Amino acid sequence: MSKVKIFAPVEEKERPAIEAPITDAESFHAVVDSRRSVRVYAKDPIPPEVMDACLDAALKAPNSSNLQAWEIHHVVDAKKKAALVEACLSQPAAGTAPELVVFVGRPDLWRRNNRWMIEAFDKAGNVPDGAYQYYRKITPLVYDQGALGWRTPFKWILTRWRGMSRPYPREPIGKWGMRIWAHKSTALACAHFMLAMRAHGFDTCPMEGMDSARVKGILGLPRQAVVTMVISAGKRAEGGVYGPRLRFDRQHFVHRH
Ligand SMILES: Cc1cc2nc3c(=O)[nH]c(=O)nc-3n(C[C@H](O)[C@H](O)[C@H](O)COP(=O)(O)O)c2cc1C
Repeated sequence: MSKVKIFAPVEEKERPAIEAPITDAESFHAVVDSRRSVRVYAKDPIPPEVMDACLDAALKAPNSSNLQAWEIHHVVDAKKKAALVEACLSQPAAGTAPELVVFVGRPDLWRRNNRWMIEAFDKAGNVPDGAYQYYRKITPLVYDQGALGWRTPFKWILTRWRGMSRPYPREPIGKWGMRIWAHKSTALACAHFMLAMRAHGFDTCPMEGMDSARVKGILGLPRQAVVTMVISAGKRAEGGVYGPRLRFDRQHFVHRH
């Protein structure tokens, strides 16, 4: 790795003061607690401005290196929608939904977005040198897997070798690693979208019970794109939630060290 430190501290004088606004925890938990996967929707439409606000909320999700390697495909064309329902195995969660949105990871677009980042810095001016260095030197090292992934074995060896003597970032390695990398951030965008919908009084169902190859075909996506989830949205019908929420005991999942 080059001499550039990945997470070098930024000088205090270079950090703008962005205050944490006061928020309402009770409302947040009401949204989280009332979000349920809805399998049957009522006919009520979602107003376009609500749809837009929730799509914008999705795009505010935290994401790796802020490279925003995602796309959101809101399917409105009736023919495409029918095909998408079929690709979602004709699940009622898709078939009864007024809106269908496909969340797609685009690991193949990291380089374009990296360029956009540098251009945005140029435009903004006054960007700390460390930030430039990150996008000029570090991201290419971390995300460039080489044509047809030729760098993969070298990265694998280098990572293990360097990691023996000091902490060293292990992922992403190879084309599959890049897919996981894109899925992670895109899944966070999905969560933002679903919670935003609930905050507006609407409901959602995330679906991976679908034929991703067909979904990609319907949307005209390239081979490298990954379908993270299809999310249906609308107003829940009576009985649209199939039962009370079930979670295993938190002791199995929350560990203190
Ligand atoms: C990645 C993912 C894929 C899912 N796929 C489906 C699906 O194909 N069909 C479906 O009805 N529900 C699907 N679900 C919803 C889960 O079944 C649901 O989240 C889980 O049972 C917990 O219920 P809750 O969302 O109401 O809390 C999926 C959820 C996630 C996160």
